[in-house]
Amino acid sequence: MKVYITRRIPEEAISFLKEQGVEVDIHEEETAPDRNTLLMKGQQVDAILCLLSDSIDREFLDHARNLKVVANFAVGYNNIDVNYARQKGIAVTNTPDVLTDATADLTWALILSVTRRIVEADNFVRAGKFEGWGPLMMLGTELSGKTLGIVGAGRIGQAVGKRAVGFSINILYADNSRKGGFEQVTGAQKADLADVFSGSDILTFHCPLKPETRHLINEDTINKVKPGAYIINTSRGPVIDEGVLVKALKEGYLSGAGLDVYENEPELHPGLAELSNVVLLPHIGSATHKTRTDMAMIAARNIVAVLNGERPLTPVN
Ligand code: GLV
Repeated sequence: MKVYITRRIPEEAISFLKEQGVEVDIHEEETAPDRNTLLMKGQQVDAILCLLSDSIDREFLDHARNLKVVANFAVGYNNIDVNYARQKGIAVTNTPDVLTDATADLTWALILSVTRRIVEADNFVRAGKFEGWGPLMMLGTELSGKTLGIVGAGRIGQAVGKRAVGFSINILYADNSRKGGFEQVTGAQKADLADVFSGSDILTFHCPLKPETRHLINEDTINKVKPGAYIINTSRGPVIDEGVLVKALKEGYLSGAGLDVYENEPELHPGLAELSNVVLLPHIGSATHKTRTDMAMIAARNIVAVLNGERPLTPVN
């Protein structure tokens, strides 16, 4: 049995696969394999351990005649045609739970960075502009008493909400279903998306990317967002129309944004990088040593389970 791994991942998972008798073919470069390589490798293997940037679409699945499992090294799986894989009897797995805390922590890093202008202030000091304490220098926004709007209160959205309690913030959330336990712990209130948009000082996105969540922020809905709000996105870039976001930031309609993901990742919308009221991260929500090792191990265990004819640990189809 053979697995193609589309990038270097923590060693522990590679050793585990080898110990289990799986032959491992790793794309050792820092950048993604090109499309032809991906298609060609897909034809040669029983399993693929892929990243969120690898497109596992119909064409790939049609080429991959022996493929039994697609193990995504991510919790989100919008890069995979899950329905088509199901039709072909190919298992698809993701890496839930292990990245919840890391991603929620990073969301808070962005919230604090934009509201207290951390990156701007750091640049100010490095540029030699700090000439002493100033009563009006680098003023930001106080969190206590504000309202945090969580769009998508799944595992990560709820973990973000739980962290808000210590900051004395009110929470609104939009989700398809009511989260009673979450409400009890945090005092969060469920509301329609439009009310979450209009009632929140900080809006943070934690929904999966699906046709119905594409461009939740668009030309029409941006006007529903509370003027002066901050927008945080650690989910998937296309949830927000980045052009609309950049325009609202430039015009001063929004106070700022903290982004870990982009609509056309890794490209940025023109003008975004020139704005001083945004903090831009290179999709590092799950990037801790522990979480990335745990993600790799779950993906590897999923592969071994399927190749042994067992049910995967974390199937999505
Ligand atoms: C990262 O974005 C993930 O989906 O795991």
